[in-house]
Amino acid sequence: MWKHLKPLPGTRPPDAGQPMMRLARVCNIDDLRKRALSVLPDPMLHYLEGGADDEQTLRRNREAFAAFDLIPHFLVDVANVDTTTEVLGQKLPIPLMLAPTGMSRLFHPQAELAVARAAAEHGTMFCLSTVGSETIESVAAVSNGPKMFQIYVLGDHGLNTEFISRARESGYDALCLTIDVPVGGNRERDVRTGMAIPPKFTWRSNLSFVTRPRWSLRQLFGPRFDLPIVSGHVPDKNASLAERMAYIFRQFDPSVTWKDAERMIAEWNGPFAVKGVLSPDDARQAIDIGATAVMVSNHGGRQLDTSPATIDALAEIVAAVDGQAEVIVDGGIRRGTDVIKALALGAKACMIGRPYLYGLTVAGQAGVSKALDIFTAEIYRDMALLGCRNVNEIGPRHIRRRPVSG
Ligand SMILES: Cc1cc2nc3c(=O)[nH]c(=O)nc-3n(C[C@H](O)[C@H](O)[C@H](O)COP(=O)(O)O)c2cc1C
Repeated sequence: MWKHLKPLPGTRPPDAGQPMMRLARVCNIDDLRKRALSVLPDPMLHYLEGGADDEQTLRRNREAFAAFDLIPHFLVDVANVDTTTEVLGQKLPIPLMLAPTGMSRLFHPQAELAVARAAAEHGTMFCLSTVGSETIESVAAVSNGPKMFQIYVLGDHGLNTEFISRARESGYDALCLTIDVPVGGNRERDVRTGMAIPPKFTWRSNLSFVTRPRWSLRQLFGPRFDLPIVSGHVPDKNASLAERMAYIFRQFDPSVTWKDAERMIAEWNGPFAVKGVLSPDDARQAIDIGATAVMVSNHGGRQLDTSPATIDALAEIVAAVDGQAEVIVDGGIRRGTDVIKALALGAKACMIGRPYLYGLTVAGQAGVSKALDIFTAEIYRDMALLGCRNVNEIGPRHIRRRPVSG
């Protein structure tokens, strides 16, 4: 049912046979994670897994889900469970989308192209990051599925206008503005491994490139690493990759305000999500400037440490939004039951970041597809077990915060 969108011809990666072997006996996202971590050299592993400061928010994103119980209701006819939903103007087969993640070529040479193809194959939405390793146009060329482009506001405001018109011309369905990066988060794992901007790898990191030959060979023979959406704008055309990356990350504008966001919404004039909302106040601001959706996100625990776990922040934000915008949530979602808990607390849909990057690392497009297959099967089964025939039936009666035993 959800594979209604046929993959474009030639969308299978060149090593299409092998990935299946690597994915054999992968039952869940944690299996996929373990395999991915066994492939990645230290700098990439910690860039993927790490969070800010003491990683409290990173941990809480996961732990907070365990504080909620799902309450099933039985003897409901669940012979046919409809997992579809509509969000940001797009009908999706499951209430789950692929969040924007920068620099995906660090995980697999096919990078965002593989992710976009897998998302299109499943009919779900992929969000391309401003700091993606493929262009706005090349992602659009391989995907006939729903697509969103994520903007960071850069110092050169002309760039935002350019991105908006390129996204429109390439047929993107929605735009998303990430608001939680006025400055970069303090990711100490990256400092330790040398995965900083510009990179300064340590001897231990260099050794890990040798002990992870599958990743190293793939990268050696794959396309050159770049951030092509933005790097064409670096003034010095002879700058090294490290210098170009340093230049790009200096362009993040810490003086951005809601006025800039409002201007962008007017410029885009279509479905628009504000990503990184953690307070009812910001949710209200987003609605006041005309956002279609509010994304409750703490950037996967990578920005302000000790900010709340997203599932804990959700109910209050849903109440503040009061039906005037869609609420989408990400952070720590690893199981179908996590998605259902979010929906029971009022979210319209969820997004995943690391889970699909694990799949990408292990087996490119087939790996991302596997992550989506896992979620699809889990969401379907969990809805049936909960006694829900469609996503609209999931509600407050299906969830409760576990009483503190004492
Ligand atoms: C490696 C990595 C890169 C990311 N890059 C971006 C980005 O470029 N833009 C953005 O808005 N969020 C970015 N995020 C945050 C994700 O969009 C998402 O909010 C987060 O990954 C959700 O948490 P999860 O990884 O636990 O699913 C990134 C996350 C990761 C793990």
